[in-house]
Amino acid sequence: MDRVSLIDRGTLRLDALIELSQKPSLFEPGAQPFWDDPHISEQMLAAHLSPDTEAASRKSEAIDRTVSWLVEHLELTPGDTVLDLGCGPGLYSARLSERQLDVTGIDYSRRSIAYAKGRAEEQGLSVKYVYRDFLTLDYDSEFDLALQIYGEVNAFSPDNLDHLLSRIHRALKPAGRFVFDVTTQRHDRDGKSTSSWYAAANGFWRPGHHVVLQHGFSYPEHAVHLDQFIVIEQSGETSVYRNWFVDYSLESIRAVLERNSFRLESTWSDLAGTPHQPDSEWIGVIAQKS
Ligand SMILES: C[S@@+](CC[C@H](N)C(=O)[O-])C[C@H]1O[C@@H](n2cnc3c(N)ncnc32)[C@H](O)[C@@H]1O
Repeated sequence: MDRVSLIDRGTLRLDALIELSQKPSLFEPGAQPFWDDPHISEQMLAAHLSPDTEAASRKSEAIDRTVSWLVEHLELTPGDTVLDLGCGPGLYSARLSERQLDVTGIDYSRRSIAYAKGRAEEQGLSVKYVYRDFLTLDYDSEFDLALQIYGEVNAFSPDNLDHLLSRIHRALKPAGRFVFDVTTQRHDRDGKSTSSWYAAANGFWRPGHHVVLQHGFSYPEHAVHLDQFIVIEQSGETSVYRNWFVDYSLESIRAVLERNSFRLESTWSDLAGTPHQPDSEWIGVIAQKS
């Protein structure tokens, strides 16, 4: 269900709105596309590039530290092949390419890929940027390293994550590494199980007048949280967007990796070399294809 109308022959269909506001079943999808929607992707790109927010990407200084640490810790050398999954506007890909690594960046936002390609051209970098859903990857033994940074792994249901990991496994060379970060249950989710709303003339979800009803739902028995946004346009057309988050512990992420033929090599509190602490909000993971 991508869009419904809340107005029927001049009547506001509150019954439909009440139904949309109910807690959905686990991993019920919301409206698609999301990352590639012309308006939303413009807002996302602005968020990626904003130095002051961490809404879509970490701050530049954190990205610099991550890239330096990964290159040193993983002993990456010029010519090593890197697959940056969900590369956005290429903030990591560009920095890795500046260090002479052979980088392929994949993203499902046309706008981010177009921006990244433009920047690479301006900077004289030879990153290959590809507009693609990473769930459809079909590389075979091509990469020394696959990256998926800033909690993208948290967004998948167990079935989709297994599917993605099988594709990443195939894309890696023997003993290749998969490096990613995931949130833990310590991670502070804004408005965990609350409801709020706002009306705007122009905003993140829509360019025109709209109202957003925001709900947080917890599924504690599955360590899952949902941020749901019901976006109602002036015409009554309504879309429901759902951001699912699965939090992990050391044990649960190890189990996911092992059932997908990866060995958990080391864990950190981030991907910049901070040692793992039991109470940290993030786990930085270095895994190896086995
Ligand atoms: C949280 S952002 C992180 C971007 C980047 N890794 C960073 O830290 O700057 C997630 C990115 O994944 C991309 N993405 C989400 N689902 C995707 C999919 N199925 N295939 C490819 N890219 C996807 C989004 O477009 C977005 O750029």
